[in-house]
Amino acid sequence: MFATTLRAALSLVSFVSLFSIISASEWAFAVKESIHPPPGWVKCSSASPDRVLRLRIALPQPQFHVLEQHLMEISDPDHERYGRYLSKDQVDDLVRPYDESLDLVTQWLEKWGIYEEDISRSAAKDWVTVMISIRLAEQMLNTTYYIWRHVQDGAFIIRTTEYSLPRVLHSHVDLIQPTTSFGRWKAMRTATLDWKSDSEGSVNHRVSPASDTPTVYKNPVSGVTVDLSCNETVTVNRLQQLYNVVGYVPKIPTKNNRIGVTGFLEQYANIQDLNTFYADQVPQAVGTSFEFTSVNGGQNSQNLSESGVEAAIDTQLAYGLTYPIPGVFWSTRGTPPFIPDAKYPENGNEPYGDTTNKRALPISYARRVCDSFAQLGARGVSLLFAAGNGGVGDWGLQNRSEHLCFSNDGCNVTKFLPAFPASCPYVTSVGATNNIDEVGIFFSGGGFSDYFPRPSYQDEAVNDYLEKLPEGLYEGLYNPYGRGFPDVSALSIGYRFFWMGNAIFGTGTSAATPVVAALIALLSDYRLSVGLPTLGFLNPVLYKKGFAGFNDVTKGGNIGCGTDGFNATEGWDPGGSFNVSRLIPLANS
Ligand SMILES: *[C@@H]1O[C@H](CO)[C@@H](O)[C@H](O)[C@H]1NC(C)=O
Ligand SMILES: *[C@@H]1O[C@H](CO)[C@@H](O)[C@H](O)[C@H]1NC(C)=O
Ligand SMILES: *[C@@H]1O[C@H](CO)[C@@H](O)[C@H](O)[C@H]1NC(C)=O
Ligand SMILES: *[C@@H]1O[C@H](CO)[C@@H](O)[C@H](O)[C@H]1NC(C)=O
Ligand SMILES: *[C@@H]1O[C@H](CO)[C@@H](O)[C@H](O)[C@H]1NC(C)=O
Ligand SMILES: *[C@@H]1O[C@H](CO)[C@@H](O)[C@H](O)[C@H]1NC(C)=O
Ligand SMILES: *[C@@H]1O[C@H](CO)[C@@H](O)[C@H](O)[C@H]1NC(C)=O
Repeated sequence: MFATTLRAALSLVSFVSLFSIISASEWAFAVKESIHPPPGWVKCSSASPDRVLRLRIALPQPQFHVLEQHLMEISDPDHERYGRYLSKDQVDDLVRPYDESLDLVTQWLEKWGIYEEDISRSAAKDWVTVMISIRLAEQMLNTTYYIWRHVQDGAFIIRTTEYSLPRVLHSHVDLIQPTTSFGRWKAMRTATLDWKSDSEGSVNHRVSPASDTPTVYKNPVSGVTVDLSCNETVTVNRLQQLYNVVGYVPKIPTKNNRIGVTGFLEQYANIQDLNTFYADQVPQAVGTSFEFTSVNGGQNSQNLSESGVEAAIDTQLAYGLTYPIPGVFWSTRGTPPFIPDAKYPENGNEPYGDTTNKRALPISYARRVCDSFAQLGARGVSLLFAAGNGGVGDWGLQNRSEHLCFSNDGCNVTKFLPAFPASCPYVTSVGATNNIDEVGIFFSGGGFSDYFPRPSYQDEAVNDYLEKLPEGLYEGLYNPYGRGFPDVSALSIGYRFFWMGNAIFGTGTSAATPVVAALIALLSDYRLSVGLPTLGFLNPVLYKKGFAGFNDVTKGGNIGCGTDGFNATEGWDPGGSFNVSRLIPLANS
């Protein structure tokens, strides 16, 4: 009894101290984050104060290191907890902020007339979202929002380069966005290298079945036999041959295993295009569709003219290779929550999208997004991201200009530009190869992160690679202590798929990514069929046992920033990686 009373008294004391001892000076503004605008963005005018911003506030996750430890243990094939994934509730518990952070942020919002009914919170309460006018946001953050225009593509976004918070909140808020993040999460440009419709550029509504060339080619090194036409046209059949999954019929086509594709920025997956693809390449799947999930109001337009090219290649390859494993399509709203006016058609209140380059992202934001992927891994989700089509730089497939590699740290020096989220240590990133011999290809994104240190699972592999590089090569251009990527690679050229009713060819790491995802889903299916859990976060098992299971890519490499980039070698390298097909035996671990 006494003890209880004492504890009550103590907590009353701490409660009182929390709210009364914060001095006025602690509520005074101090700069929370200040950045140099990334190259390519020009400040236009101040933003209209009446526009509404969807302001997202991230509270620190003091137990994140515990979550990370769980993730590494349950993803380590040699650990007794391998495959024992956490539930969503368990993960939420591990990312919950301190009560004190919640209290202080709530108190701060109330000072500005924002009450609980105006706030939405994530399940773990680590994100607070409020819809407020730019005028109010500018007061709360002692900042000015501007409209910025991108010099190359003319896009507009509303951002600031500096914002402040009361000093007392600095350790209770990780970040607030949209403020300083200029990352645009562009969908990968799938098919910019070899972009043509069926009949050499003219729009072609004829849909013909993929020709079945009888000619076969025997790879002298691996002994594998592949249809010769694979060199020109990549279809489901040829991928199955190339990656040794011919005749593998998924055994557990239930919700225990699913393959998901995310759609952003109004990339809609069209069921008619999907079925045209099935008729062409996966006849047994004709008449089937996918499960649609809307994230944050994302739409499911089935208007053929609004079929997204990214969504088309992703869904057709991912679902086509894994049929009948259930396919899911998550459509995330990509339009801003306010009406864009004719002058500045803003398209910038972006969700987590496919990719961006890290130069445009403040480190706080990149870290927080990356950490959120660890939560999915801990729940047994395998997450794959394309490594990008910019080599070590940031050009589109046709743009290799060196000047696109300037840093935005204020020094204006040339630096390689690692892609994000591909360089996040909690995801598996996919690079590009060419030809059936799988030579690393020049545009394959790859390199080393400036933001994320090298995770221990790849220490040995990356060290071995770095030791092979000539002394002093690319000094200052990359961070040799950073997370190396990609983790795996796959064929990336000449995919035949269907978009807006037409057969077209696609190229890029965003074609390789759904293919690797599909192979992983098949491996997870196999594991479920023998009573094992799905694969979950892949990297620890890939690096620990992968070398035994992969076919090494030793030729080719990427380029960029006026350099030769990183060459493929024996063992791990960022210029093209492995053949995923030998993984079935590995799946027994
Ligand atoms: C707000 O920021 C401006 C600079 O933009 C600074 O001059 C001013 O002192 C700040 N106000 C407060 C209350 O800190
Ligand atoms: C990938 O590995 C498998 C299994 O060893 C092999 O049969 C196949 O030839 C390899 N693929 C290529 C393209 O080398
Ligand atoms: C595939 O194409 C590449 C490049 O055009 C060529 O070097 C290679 O010999 C071709 N392979 C086959 C089997 O035709
Ligand atoms: C389909 O989408 C196009 C392009 O957005 C639009 O012009 C057209 O009106 C839409 N058709 C229907 C039936 O909604
Ligand atoms: C390449 O970059 C330059 C310089 O920004 C630009 O003028 C050119 O249009 C770009 N080319 C392509 C194909 O994007
Ligand atoms: C960075 O350097 C390049 C070339 O030296 C120059 O064109 C560019 O204007 C510089 N940018 C800044 C922000 O100083
Ligand atoms: C990468 O490969 C190219 C072509 O074989 C070669 O010229 C270059 O020297 C290699 N670079 C390194 C760092 O080994």
